Amino acid sequence: MTMAQLSLLFLLVAYSVAVSARSFRRQEDTFTNPINQAKGADPCMRLINGTYFMTSTQNTDISMWMSDTVEGLHTAEKITLFTDDTEGRNFDFWAPEFWYLDGTWYIYYAVAGNYDDNTHRMHVLRGGTDEADPSTGPYEYVGPLIPDNFDTWAVDGSILELDDARYFVFSGQQTDTPWTQCLYISAMSDPVTLTGDAQIISCPEYTWETAATPVQEGPEPITYDGTTYIVYSASHCSTIDYALGLLTLTTGANPMLAASWTKNSEPLFSKDEEAGVYGPGHHFMFQTGDGYYFAYHGKTLEDQYSCGDERTTRVQPFTFNSTGPVFPAPVAVDVAVPEPSLL
Ligand SMILES: *[C@@H]1O[C@H](CO)[C@@H](O)[C@H](O)[C@H]1NC(C)=O
Ligand SMILES: *[C@@H]1O[C@H](CO)[C@@H](O)[C@H](O)[C@H]1NC(C)=O
Repeated sequence: MTMAQLSLLFLLVAYSVAVSARSFRRQEDTFTNPINQAKGADPCMRLINGTYFMTSTQNTDISMWMSDTVEGLHTAEKITLFTDDTEGRNFDFWAPEFWYLDGTWYIYYAVAGNYDDNTHRMHVLRGGTDEADPSTGPYEYVGPLIPDNFDTWAVDGSILELDDARYFVFSGQQTDTPWTQCLYISAMSDPVTLTGDAQIISCPEYTWETAATPVQEGPEPITYDGTTYIVYSASHCSTIDYALGLLTLTTGANPMLAASWTKNSEPLFSKDEEAGVYGPGHHFMFQTGDGYYFAYHGKTLEDQYSCGDERTTRVQPFTFNSTGPVFPAPVAVDVAVPEPSLL
């Protein structure tokens, strides 16, 4: 072989190695929705030190799935973190969210008792201290989170951190007849203690917030480029019109006053009949090496008028522009979505 032939051979080998490495990576570089086949409502998902952790509403317990890819969550093992037979808080465990606050993992969740949905209140569990692993417990029950003025139906608690203060945001029953759910906020003195009264920050008013029942729930605060937003879910979860809406906090204003929040008149994210995605909402936003992604639940059949187990978890990227978060159209099931880079 001449020197020229040798270099050609080398180039060919290098090229085929590069091509096969690329196609190998391509295969692993996408995932498909949904992430689960049933019972995937109200997901919470985070990417921590190269691992995805996910919870969703299981009704009977609080469980987590973990994997080093989003695709891998399809086949991940269910890890049950908490069950509770205690009378008064043993029925319909909803929308657990896991938060690492002051060096410890906490899970905020709603639960009822006595087979009576009307008794739903927010509660908190305390878990381990390993920041890289929210699946390590044991998770222990701490107590209910009930504001002084609001021992009333409450669900979907989340945390707003702003200017060294911490607030609890949740959805509560404002009126019984007609049933109306508004968004509330309460100050926190530590991760397991609310202080003072809860205040209403926003109530459903637009047509897209009142399908079947006026509802604002699933509030998820996010601060980007100095502005704080709450992305929330609107309309009744049983409808195909369940959607995401946006509140923007006036910079420097007190988050406990309704007047400090401005609501967008249009939803950010809603059903896409062409893609066959109905009632998408109750999301959680998280950071990846490729910017922000969000997990949410959706339904596949147009006639699924229920808030049941047919809701499955889906994941997609989203971005921001100068007026806030910009969500894509919901993607159809089984369409390849780019696997995010790890942080
Ligand atoms: C992050 O993951 C790596 C690899 O699994 C592990 O060696 C490291 O200890 C983890 N970091 C933390 C802070 O736990
Ligand atoms: C940001 O995106 C939203 C949603 O697509 C759009 O309505 C809005 O006009 C955009 N704002 C700017 C400043 O581009």
